[in-house]
Amino acid sequence: MSPNRICLPLSLFSLLLLLGCLVSSTRGTCNVCNTVNNLTCYSSTQMQACQADVLSTATPTSCPSGYVCVSGSSGVLCQPEGQDASDCQECNKCDESQTFACTGTQSFALCLGTDTVQDSSGTCASGYVCNINDTQICGLPADGVMPTCSYADDTTTTSTSSTTSSTTASPPSTSDASTYCAAVQSQGRYAVGYNAYTTCRQYIYCTLVSGSWVGETYTCPGDLYFDSASQMCVASMPSTCSTTATTTSTTTAAPTTSNPAAYCQAMQSAGYYPVGTDASTTCHQYIYCFLNGGTWNGNAYTCPGSLYYNSASKTCVDTLPSTCSATVASLTLNGVELD
Ligand SMILES: *[C@@H]1O[C@H](CO)[C@@H](O)[C@H](O)[C@H]1NC(C)=O
Ligand SMILES: *[C@@H]1O[C@H](CO)[C@@H](O)[C@H](O)[C@H]1NC(C)=O
Repeated sequence: MSPNRICLPLSLFSLLLLLGCLVSSTRGTCNVCNTVNNLTCYSSTQMQACQADVLSTATPTSCPSGYVCVSGSSGVLCQPEGQDASDCQECNKCDESQTFACTGTQSFALCLGTDTVQDSSGTCASGYVCNINDTQICGLPADGVMPTCSYADDTTTTSTSSTTSSTTASPPSTSDASTYCAAVQSQGRYAVGYNAYTTCRQYIYCTLVSGSWVGETYTCPGDLYFDSASQMCVASMPSTCSTTATTTSTTTAAPTTSNPAAYCQAMQSAGYYPVGTDASTTCHQYIYCFLNGGTWNGNAYTCPGSLYYNSASKTCVDTLPSTCSATVASLTLNGVELD
């Protein structure tokens, strides 16, 4: 009786081990070159010729209908659907630590300790790509970090947003630098807004990277303002900037992380939230949002000592969170730009 008892759990255990091995060997490795036959999965149904650690620019080939692209020990193959999980399926999925999800080849969103992608949009620094297993979120293809999302999905998103912007006659919004630059289609620095205290000190820099327009929002150093005419940061306030907007209506002040009440008004949910992506300053801070007599309010805190705020575990930790890396260019949460 007793040998059976031991044997059953043991064989179950080895079966689970075997299953674990099978699962890990068929894990999605989108855009990663399989050197067995120098092919990569370009999407879950397309393959592409490639070279190790170089982003392939070869024209993708589609698998026959009913077949999916799978990268395995015998190379990249088109396999009948339903056999092994295809590659390129980890886009828009939260990573194991529930910190972030890649939402495009160069973009990501926060998960805030859940399995759900939050209303958040982050961009990788120019040339960097988002990878679900990268401890810094965005990495360089030259270092072997390939985008988790397929370029096929990026194309869909870009064409949708350009259709939207061409149908609306209003000027492109400056709230998302890359969307703005995609609409402007011209290299240079552009003014962000008219608020003397906030947006007047910022500018968007648009540049063409491998055929697509990318943008990043920058803040002028110190007390300087951005001047559109000279495209430089200057000491004198441009005439287009207004100091009245914030002084007259404190209740509708722009939701920024330095304004916890407005920030929490944008979050619309009680709890702890991150402040920024700067490893030396805002990464140590967090905001607690709460409802007070029907109004959202918030308090800003700083982690003790040299600890960092981790947006997934919602605690102060001693390891630098992945959101605090220099490879991350910008990040917003519920429309609020994190510093
Ligand atoms: C794959 O490419 C490498 C160099 O990039 C080459 O040495 C190797 O022979 C190629 N393998 C196949 C199967 O073509
Ligand atoms: C990559 O991340 C996914 C999801 O978080 C995880 O399941 C997988 O084990 C990771 N792969 C590696 C090689 O770490």
